[in-house]
Amino acid sequence: MDDLKNYMRVLKKLGFEEIILENYREEKVLTVSEKKKLLDKIASEILVCTKCDLHKSRTKAVPGEGNPDAKLMFVGEAPGGDEDKQGRPFVGRAGKLLTKIIEATGHKRDEFFITNTVKCRPPGNRTPTPWEQETCWSYLEKQIEIIDPKVICLLGAAAGYAFLQRPVKITKERGQIIKWNGRLLFLTYHPAYVLRNLQAEPVLLEDIKKAIELAYS
Ligand code: URA
Repeated sequence: MDDLKNYMRVLKKLGFEEIILENYREEKVLTVSEKKKLLDKIASEILVCTKCDLHKSRTKAVPGEGNPDAKLMFVGEAPGGDEDKQGRPFVGRAGKLLTKIIEATGHKRDEFFITNTVKCRPPGNRTPTPWEQETCWSYLEKQIEIIDPKVICLLGAAAGYAFLQRPVKITKERGQIIKWNGRLLFLTYHPAYVLRNLQAEPVLLEDIKKAIELAYS
């Protein structure tokens, strides 16, 4: 800090009167109710979104839900059949497992914010394409900016792809913590993978425990 002050004094003596910080963003600290209002506004845009073809086959768009002030966000791949019917994320079999695992750590699902890389169900539950993820990204990006979580837990390779913009081998990369835009990404299995590979359940539990500890540390 002292070095920085001295540097500023030298610049002033040299005749500089202002410093333009190109990437400067005035960070306003939002109250929880301001965050909620902004998230509701995004959700209302998502509900009528027609930016990609996924809207044509959806029943309900699934913006995401949870604590507007969460320290930890969970991001999955895309809504499935149950989510499409109810308009809520992670409420089917995979979602029930995620909720069970969160509760096994001693926490509650609604402490966190849960969403997906795309907000509408891909037909036949296929993986969303990179273009669909890209088209939907601005919603997720705004949700992250508003919630301002310390940690984002990425559930599965498709979530990894959306953030890292490269193929992710989740069996190799899970457990990794990656610095990303001033936040921490934590990669782990998708709960649907764990439903097909039950031996991975304790690993997912340990990973989610770590992600929560990281978020609250
Ligand atoms: N799988 C996901 O990736 N997201 C959901 O919301 C449900 C299942």
